[in-house]
Parts: sequence; C-alpha cells; structure tokens
Amino acid sequence: MRSLFNKLLAIVGSFALLALPPMPAQAQNATAVISPEQLAKIHAGNDKCLACHSQAGVEHPPLAGMDLKKLRTLIRDADAFYASDHQRLSCTKCHNEGYDDFPHAADAKDNTTTCSDCHSKSAAIVDKQFANSVHAKNLSDKFTCTTCHNPHLMRLAAKLGDPQKIVAQDNRVCLGCHDSDEQFAKFAPEKKSRPLIDDIHSWLPNTRLHWKHVRCVECHTPAVAAGEPISHEIFNKEKAEKNCVTCHSANSALKTRLYRHLVKEEEHRLGFANSIILASSYMPGVTRHPLLDALILIAFGATFFGLLAHGLGRIIAHYIRRRKNHG
Ligand code: HEC
Ligand code: HEC
Ligand code: HEC
Ligand code: HEC
Ligand code: HEC
Ligand code: HEC
Ligand code: HEC
Repeated sequence: MRSLFNKLLAIVGSFALLALPPMPAQAQNATAVISPEQLAKIHAGNDKCLACHSQAGVEHPPLAGMDLKKLRTLIRDADAFYASDHQRLSCTKCHNEGYDDFPHAADAKDNTTTCSDCHSKSAAIVDKQFANSVHAKNLSDKFTCTTCHNPHLMRLAAKLGDPQKIVAQDNRVCLGCHDSDEQFAKFAPEKKSRPLIDDIHSWLPNTRLHWKHVRCVECHTPAVAAGEPISHEIFNKEKAEKNCVTCHSANSALKTRLYRHLVKEEEHRLGFANSIILASSYMPGVTRHPLLDALILIAFGATFFGLLAHGLGRIIAHYIRRRKNHG
C-alpha cells in the first residue's frame, strides 16, 4: 500500500515538474558570477573566430584565398559550444594570441592551454587514476585528456542528469575507437585486428541494448563511494565487472554511478530518494517493488529451468535412441 502511495506521489510530482517553466541553460550552469555585459563581450570576441570556423564561414568566406578544404574540417558548432561546460569562455582563453590574426602564427598550435592549467585540483586526482588505466599503460603518449573530452562539447554528467544522455555522451567516446577499425588502428597500428566489442562481451545478453543503457565505465572502473565521481582508472579484462547482480538487484551499484544525479535531483526536488527508480523502472531487477522483484526472479528462473528441461530432454532422447540402435 505504501509503495503504491509513493508511486502516486511520484506521478503527481512529475506532473508538477512539467508545469514549471524550464530553467534557461545559462542560469542552470551559473557557478561563477558573470555579468551579461561580460558575456556579450565574450560572445562578440568568439564571433570573430566563428566568422570563419563555422558552416556560414565556409559557405561565405570573409576572406579570399583561404584553404577552405582544411577550414571545412575545423568547423565549431556555436550552439553546442554555448551549451557545453565551457560556454562562458573565450576561444582565446585556450587558443592563444597566435590565432588573433589570419593567417595564424605558425607556432600557435603549440601553446593551447591544457586542462590541468585551469583545473589543477581535479586534474591532480584524475591524473593519478588515469596513470593506472589500461590506456595510459599501453598507449601512454598518444592518449591525453582531449582524446576522450572534447572541450568544445563536453558536459558534466551532473548537468546532463538524464541517464540516457550520460550514456550517449560517454559511450560515444569508447565506442568511437572500440567499434571503429579506422580509429582503433590510429591508436594501435601494431595490432593486426581490432577485437570485436560484441565478441569480447559475448557472455552478456543483448550487448547492443546494454551499450545503449549502461556505460562501459560502469564495469571497467573501480567501485565508488556514494557522491564520488567515477574513477579514471579503466580496468583491463581481469578486473572488469562480470556479475549481473551488481546492477540487476534492488541494491544496484548504478545508484551510486549512472543514476546518482537522477536520485540527487529527485531528492532535491521532491524530498525523497528512489522515487524515479520506483516510478519508472529503468532496468529489470532494480525496481524495489517486492512483487515485481519476485516476478522478475520467477521469469529468470522459468527461462533457466526451461533451458535445463530442454537440455535434459535432449540427453534422454539421445540415450533412448542409442539404446534402440544397439538393441
Ligand atoms: C579569416 C578566417 C579565420 C579567422 C577569423 C580565424 N581562423 Fe582559425 N583558421 C582559419 C583557416 C583557414 C584555418 C586552416 C589552416 C590555416 O590556413 O591556418 C584555421 C586554423 C585554425 C586552427 C587549427 C590550427 C592547426 O594548426 O591545425 C585553430 C585552432 C584555429 N584556426 C583557431 C582560431 C581561433 C581561436 C580564432 C579566433 C581567435 C580563429 N581561428 C580565427 C581561418 C580563420
Ligand atoms: C577549454 C578550452 C578551449 C576552448 C574554450 C576552445 N577550444 Fe578549441 N580546442 C581546444 C583544444 C584543447 C583543442 C585540441 C583538441 C585536440 O587535441 O584534438 C582544440 C581544437 C580546436 C580546433 C581544431 C584544431 C585541430 O587541429 O583540429 C579548432 C578549429 C578550435 N579548437 C576552435 C575553437 C573555437 C572557434 C573556439 C571558440 C568558439 C574554441 N576552439 C574554444 C580547447 C579549447
Ligand atoms: C582556460 C581555462 C580552462 C581550460 C584550458 C579548461 N577548462 Fe574546463 N572549465 C573552465 C572554467 C572557467 C569552467 C567553469 C565554467 C562555468 O562555471 O561556467 C570549466 C568547467 C569545466 C567542467 C565542468 C565543471 C563544473 O563544475 O562546471 C569540466 C568537467 C571541465 N571544465 C573539464 C575540462 C577539461 C577535460 C579540459 C581539457 C580538455 C578543460 N576543462 C580545459 C576553464 C578551463
Ligand atoms: C578514457 C577516456 C577518458 C580520458 C582519457 C579522460 N577522461 Fe575524464 N571522464 C571520462 C568519463 C567517461 C567521465 C564521466 C564520469 C562520470 O560521470 O563521473 C569523465 C569525467 C571527467 C570529469 C568530471 C568528473 C565529475 O566531477 O563528474 C573531469 C573533471 C575529467 N573527466 C577530467 C579529465 C582530465 C583532466 C583528464 C586527463 C588527465 C581526463 N578527464 C581524461 C573519460 C575520460
Ligand atoms: C582513441 C581511441 C580509444 C578510446 C577513446 C578508448 N579506447 Fe580503450 N583502447 C584503445 C586501444 C587502441 C586499446 C588497445 C591497447 C593495447 O593493448 O595496445 C585499448 C584498450 C582498452 C582496454 C584493455 C584491453 C586489454 O588489453 O585488457 C579496455 C578495457 C578499454 N580499452 C576500455 C575502454 C573504455 C571503457 C573506454 C571509454 C571510457 C575506452 N577504452 C576508450 C583505444 C581507445
Ligand atoms: C557489464 C559489464 C561490462 C560492460 C558494460 C562493458 N564491459 Fe568490457 N569487459 C567486461 C568484462 C567482464 C571483460 C572481460 C571479459 C572476459 O574476460 O571474457 C571485458 C572486456 C573488455 C575488453 C577486452 C579486453 C581484452 O583484452 O580482451 C575491452 C577492450 C572492453 N571490455 C571494452 C569495453 C567497452 C568499450 C565497453 C562499452 C561499449 C565495455 N567494455 C562495456 C565487462 C563489461
Ligand atoms: C553495469 C550494469 C549491468 C550489468 C553488470 C549487467 N546489466 Fe543487464 N542491463 C543493464 C541495464 C541498465 C539494462 C537496460 C534495461 C532497460 O532499460 O531496458 C540491462 C538490460 C538487460 C536485459 C534486457 C532486458 C530487456 O528488456 O530485453 C537482460 C536480459 C540483461 N540485462 C541481463 C543481464 C545479465 C544476464 C547480466 C550478467 C551477465 C547483466 N545483464 C549484467 C545493466 C547491467
């Protein structure tokens, strides 16, 4: 009865949320104070770069004689940039003065600001974890922060909130190499062939469905304490998680991982945790409803015993056939 009440409350709650006006993206990301005038100045400065580095720039070049073929590969999407974590930065905060004029200075590229120049505190933690990851160990100098993080597009998981969007952002990175012969070969030219991602995980049912709903880093990084971000220590096959129950259980590890921002947001808005997980079952086994849990168990069990009975039937049939043939 109580859980039914909770469910109703969650449903009513989500309607109440729908009625609220959506927060403007700018306000949502306001961590540091910045005036509208300052922001307008930043945008005006960036417009100078985007006059060339955009679709419009390629179609209507503001200057004659540019290498348009190369420029076409250097387009930045202004909308995506202004929705990213770095939306309030000038292009020139990271790309130095060498780019102020065109043609750009020959050595301009050598002086791009790195992540750790600005994020020394978090980079110090990440650096240590990353140093222990499979990529740092096997591909050390080729693999850097920007191999995975596109500074023009990246969004903090906490800001994305929706697990589907988080999975899409993070798995696009891993699959970008592990599901692409071309990219993989760029980083490991000495490997004759790329291990197929679905073959490696053939023990996992419906791999493609899993890639859509759960992140690679869920199984390939160490356990995290509640509230902690996921570690950058990517595990090899020996240490990776293989246990279904880690996720498919009432006490799913995903609550402190993929779903943690959802739970926090829910808690923040509605005053209690788990309501989303209760109200909309994101995955089988996590739903806390005891009856549902039991039904899922029975369903799994039925399949198992079905297979067992089928196998046993075949063995008996085989035995009888042999007896007939010999007798
Ligand atoms: C007048 C057009 C124009 C403007 C304005 C412009 N760029 Fe470029 N940029 C180009 C072209 C064309 C290239 C292709 C390579 C080349 O010819 O240097 C390029 C190359 C680049 C590269 C790649 C360099 C490399 O070596 O791969 C970066 C980064 C870059 N620009 C950043 C900027 C930034 C930041 C701004 C604004 C401060 C800016 N650009 C303004 C036309 C422009
Ligand atoms: C937070 C830092 C940061 C900001 C802000 C930023 N960039 Fe970049 N940008 C980088 C880094 C780092 C790279 C190199 C990525 C890599 O290693 O492939 C890059 C690459 C580029 C390239 C491609 C260079 C190449 O050789 O492929 C272009 C063009 C570019 N940025 C333009 C811009 C423009 C235009 C803006 C502003 C709208 C901007 N960037 C804002 C950090 C930044
Ligand atoms: C020029 C300095 C600079 C560089 C270089 C830079 N960042 Fe940032 N980054 C910032 C600033 C400033 C913010 C906060 C933006 C805001 O609050 O609107 C930020 C925000 C972020 C956030 C979101 C954190 C939060 O609390 O909002 C992440 C994650 C992040 N950066 C990662 C990176 C990574 C990865 C790189 C390297 C590819 C990088 N940054 C390079 C200045 C930089
Ligand atoms: C193998 C790919 C990969 C590399 C390389 C990588 N990252 Fe990440 N990074 C991720 C993923 C995936 C997440 C999302 C984790 C999460 O949701 O907590 C992330 C999250 C982050 C965050 C946000 C953490 C938070 O508070 O939610 C920061 C900051 C960050 N990375 C910085 C870096 C820096 C700095 C480097 C380079 C030393 C780096 N990353 C290298 C994949 C990578
Ligand atoms: C830029 C390409 C690239 C990206 C992005 C990338 N990887 Fe890799 N990864 C590789 C290559 C190449 C190897 C093979 C390294 C070797 O053994 O020589 C590898 C190795 C691995 C291995 C270890 C294989 C072993 O030998 O045990 C795991 C696990 C792995 N990656 C997981 C991930 C995960 C998870 C992500 C996303 C967070 C990711 N990778 C992102 C290229 C990439
Ligand atoms: C459900 C947990 C789980 C998920 C999700 C998962 N992996 Fe794995 N992965 C494993 C386990 C366990 C192994 C070891 C398999 C074995 O030993 O048979 C493995 C093996 C690997 C290997 C092979 C290492 C080798 O040398 O054989 C790579 C590469 C890899 N995973 C990458 C990824 C990528 C990329 C993703 C996301 C698209 C991903 N994994 C998602 C659990 C997972
Ligand atoms: C890292 C967490 C994680 C692990 C480990 C994991 N799963 Fe999943 N699994 C999920 C998620 C998330 C879904 C997506 C559920 C959805 O929304 O449909 C899923 C979906 C499934 C489905 C599909 C249900 C359907 O709708 O078709 C099956 C079956 C399944 N998992 C079985 C397993 C088995 C068996 C294992 C162990 C070998 C396993 N899973 C390990 C997270 C995990």
